[in-house]
Amino acid sequence: MLEDASRLEKKWLEAVAAASGLDALEAVRVEALGKKGEISGLMKGLGALTPDERKSAGAKLNQLKDAVAAAIEVRKVQLAEAEIDARLQREKLDMTLPVGTGPQGRLHPISQTIDEIIAIFGEMGFKFAEGPDIEEDFYNFTALNIPPDHPARQMHDTFYLGASGDGRPTNPVALGEEEGKAEKKYGKAATPTDLEGRKLLRTHTSPVQIRYMKSHKPPMRIIAPGRTYRCDSDMTHTPMFHQVEGLVIDEKTHMGHLKGCLTEFCRAFFGVSDLPLRFRPSFFPFTEPSAEVDIGCSRKGGELKLGNYGDWLEILGCGMVHPKVLELGGVDPGRYQGFAFGMGIERIAMLKYGIPDLRTFFEADARWLAHYGFQPLDVPSLVGAPR
Ligand code: DAH
Repeated sequence: MLEDASRLEKKWLEAVAAASGLDALEAVRVEALGKKGEISGLMKGLGALTPDERKSAGAKLNQLKDAVAAAIEVRKVQLAEAEIDARLQREKLDMTLPVGTGPQGRLHPISQTIDEIIAIFGEMGFKFAEGPDIEEDFYNFTALNIPPDHPARQMHDTFYLGASGDGRPTNPVALGEEEGKAEKKYGKAATPTDLEGRKLLRTHTSPVQIRYMKSHKPPMRIIAPGRTYRCDSDMTHTPMFHQVEGLVIDEKTHMGHLKGCLTEFCRAFFGVSDLPLRFRPSFFPFTEPSAEVDIGCSRKGGELKLGNYGDWLEILGCGMVHPKVLELGGVDPGRYQGFAFGMGIERIAMLKYGIPDLRTFFEADARWLAHYGFQPLDVPSLVGAPR
């Protein structure tokens, strides 16, 4: 038995050393140490020996087993390394091969326009801010001094969320549904008072004004782009669209700053250095005084050109923040004042990039995106279109 063991050790160590690959090595392991392997067989034979013989033979066999197992482990590492080396030799990367020109992504014009807006206002010291798409009635309406009977508060203008969370529709006048029919289908329309405390999809980005005022101390200067929603769908309206809100609060900010700031923005954004702006008196519940801003254009020959041509095109709403709004935002109207503005992002993107149909923005058509989209690494320009 003892002689056997040293002969066997020699035999198996040679077999391990001769194994030329991981599979061959595994075969050797099974033959020697596997359940039906030779060494395992000898171990089983120990039972037939006398206690004394068993002791010495057992020790010898264990040593043999350990020696073979250890040799297998060492060989395994060697073979694995050799395999990696061989693969590295075999598989060569040709770094000089040109990169394949597979399909390339494009930035959506909305993303590009938002980047440009942020870049321009960023230069003027504005910070980026945002608010939730699912907004509370308070922030979307009440805090913005929007009265209960304001049209925007009606069911057919705003997407309200179910109050009870039971999934029951609370917006009876669904898209394209006639009022009478919708009522039959879903029950009576809720009144504005029913809707207090209810959540809704924000109808504009103005609620970010309130959220920011409540969580920051003046002075403040923010730009807040994002998605907005209205129960509206036709040639020039989509149920989801984008707006950008601006808010500046300080002790001495006045209408002159508002005009200067928006003039700078429009000239930089549209890349027309003498672009004239016209501030028309208007009304918004959350600003006083309020104005709508037109930019100069020409529509001669069915072609739209931006510049000092005598015609006008409306692009945004603005005004001095109403003292009530400051108060509801937690800002002392006796000490602070400021201006706000809001504009539709699709609208200015369409104007700048000559995109004729609003609805195409949201059709997710790759051909449209290939045409109107932007290279991901285009740097937003301060003076015009980045192409
Ligand atoms: N929230 C307005 C809208 O959706 C746009 C607007 C007008 C925003 C005047 C303002 C503003 O901040 O001062 O029509």
